[in-house]
Amino acid sequence: MKPYVFITRRMPDEIIEKLEETCTVSMWEKQEEPVPQERLEEEIKQADGLFCTVTEPIDRPLIESAENLKVIATMAVGYNNIDVEAAAEKDITIAHTPGVLSETTADLTFALLMAAARRLPEGIETIKNNEWKTWSPFFLTGQDIHHATLGIIGMGRIGEAVAKRGTGFDMEIIYHNRTRKQEAEEKLGARYVEMDELLKTSDFICVMTPYTKDTHHLIDREAFKKMKNTAIFINSSRGGIVDEEALYEALKNGEIRGAGLDVFEGEPVGADHPLLSLPQVTALPHIGSASESTRMAMADMTANHILQVLSGKEADHEVKL
Ligand code: GLV
Repeated sequence: MKPYVFITRRMPDEIIEKLEETCTVSMWEKQEEPVPQERLEEEIKQADGLFCTVTEPIDRPLIESAENLKVIATMAVGYNNIDVEAAAEKDITIAHTPGVLSETTADLTFALLMAAARRLPEGIETIKNNEWKTWSPFFLTGQDIHHATLGIIGMGRIGEAVAKRGTGFDMEIIYHNRTRKQEAEEKLGARYVEMDELLKTSDFICVMTPYTKDTHHLIDREAFKKMKNTAIFINSSRGGIVDEEALYEALKNGEIRGAGLDVFEGEPVGADHPLLSLPQVTALPHIGSASESTRMAMADMTANHILQVLSGKEADHEVKL
């Protein structure tokens, strides 16, 4: 009997066909709507392989209810939505998609930085609302990106790709990470600093760390207080890394100048989210890796991980505890 694979979101035909060569595949058919919990619960009980995305919490009860599951492959680099320990206890492989999305996510992160620095959303609103009266000497003046200090918290692959973009703008690159990154220092001239120094001296602060128990609300009230009043804060990793209430207050009280956010603590956010009421917030709906070719590459990699594990091999990008 062919192994059974459940896909939690509509995928392109070529991905399904690839899996169907050796597996029986079932899929939640909608693309714009996450799989209902009851369907997921029912499918995970019998599936040999689960192809999921960032929107499904694959928690302990779900994992424990699985009778045949051998692999959970997520179409994402971040896997904070999956209970890795519960999976390890049942010898279930978890696989994710690092690397393939780094450059694309760095592009978006830098776009967010530039949009926030030069107040692009406010400019767009002005024109659309028919409020552009005249050229004016200090109208919508923003902040220079070139020659500014870029502070990167979390110098992994995406952090390095953001730093590389910064060098093209003659930025001074500083970073904080659990370990020193010799290569980034040599190749990009990035300088390792303690967290406090990064917070105090950066013009732009980009958080690029994975979301774990240790990084929950890593950027809190105290962190914002240490930042320059002119600092612009960028987050394209996970919303939970930031205390959103503290961010709101910091922006409202002028403790920092602006923020660019691609992620939120509870997604999706509605238009009534307090942060969206602030003109100095540039907000996007979690689209860091959303280029067509990168999303296809991620889907393909995820399918490969399932096929690898179900044919007795190791997945190329296994999450190790
Ligand atoms: C997206 O957020 C990812 O982790 O790939």
